[in-house]
Amino acid sequence: MPQRRGALPISDTEVLNCPDTYARGVPYDCLDRLRGKTPVVWLDGRFAGEPGSWAVLRYTDVRRALSRPELFSPIPLETLHGPVVRGSAHDGMPIDTGGTAADDGGGAAAGTPIDMDPQAQALLSRIGQESADLITGVLNEMPETLRNTVAGGAYALVRHPEQYARLRAGRADETLLDSAVEEMLRWWTPVMQVRRLVRRSTKMGGVPLRTGEQVALWLTAANHDDEVYVQPGRFLPERFVSGSERHLSFGHGARVCLGGHLARVHLRAMILAILDRPGRLELAGEPVRLRSTARHGFEHLPVRWAPE
Ligand code: HEM
Repeated sequence: MPQRRGALPISDTEVLNCPDTYARGVPYDCLDRLRGKTPVVWLDGRFAGEPGSWAVLRYTDVRRALSRPELFSPIPLETLHGPVVRGSAHDGMPIDTGGTAADDGGGAAAGTPIDMDPQAQALLSRIGQESADLITGVLNEMPETLRNTVAGGAYALVRHPEQYARLRAGRADETLLDSAVEEMLRWWTPVMQVRRLVRRSTKMGGVPLRTGEQVALWLTAANHDDEVYVQPGRFLPERFVSGSERHLSFGHGARVCLGGHLARVHLRAMILAILDRPGRLELAGEPVRLRSTARHGFEHLPVRWAPE
């Protein structure tokens, strides 16, 4: 966060906890420093207007907590896909806390009977050579989390033209496309954190956690943990071809996302439509990001279609 003359210095935890931070982008540098020094760290919630919680930042700890609902249980009546976005009109759906035994069916959307390609092509045809807003003008009919996911994937392509070109050249390689879908989900991580309640006193990362305290499991920090992913900040479409550790973007364990497969199908169809259309998707202005500590997405993402 930029400092003003005369202003008090702001700590990494305050930066992490402040919705304004995310309007400028996820503070990966803060997350890296905190993960390295204090992988389970107290956030007092003041800036986000939330109760205090322990932020859990390491991949292994986040995955372990998600796997143990008897120790870390979902928070009653919590909004699906994380706390409500602040400073944005978009909202989530309330759910009960039951949890299911459903498992994440794994990566590939390949072989699915659902054919989303015509829909993706129709959406893409809304983008011409003039500036169009991907969020309000193209993906506006999608539920918010899905919209954030597809926009994050498109953004990965326009921000990495060399990878965009490589994927287009490797368009026939199903394994590479499946991996690219997973890498978009990891790199972007549309739901940045999920919360749990500590059911019984326990320890994590050497820190004693008391019954009734909240933990914020930072999926973004886990997905960018350099103990697990080589050069986690880079968007490398082939990362999952050779069996990298699976990302946590859809959660893990009993409460894993039930829409994960459908989300992958949509994302894959959109990538294919982008790769197949002659010309090139490019940014047409400054993106406006969501001001949220929980959801990673855009308020506006101006794009246009450049001729070859
Ligand atoms: C396509 C539409 C989607 C539907 C219908 C859907 C539905 C659900 C449902 C019902 C759950 C709760 C499962 C339970 O409590 O038993 C869930 C969890 C979750 N979903 Fe989705 N989802 C969708 C898309 C997405 C997308 C695009 C993402 C982001 C990549 C996402 C990320 C998550 C995460 C992280 C959880 C775990 C929450 C937790 O552990 O507290 N979902 N989803």
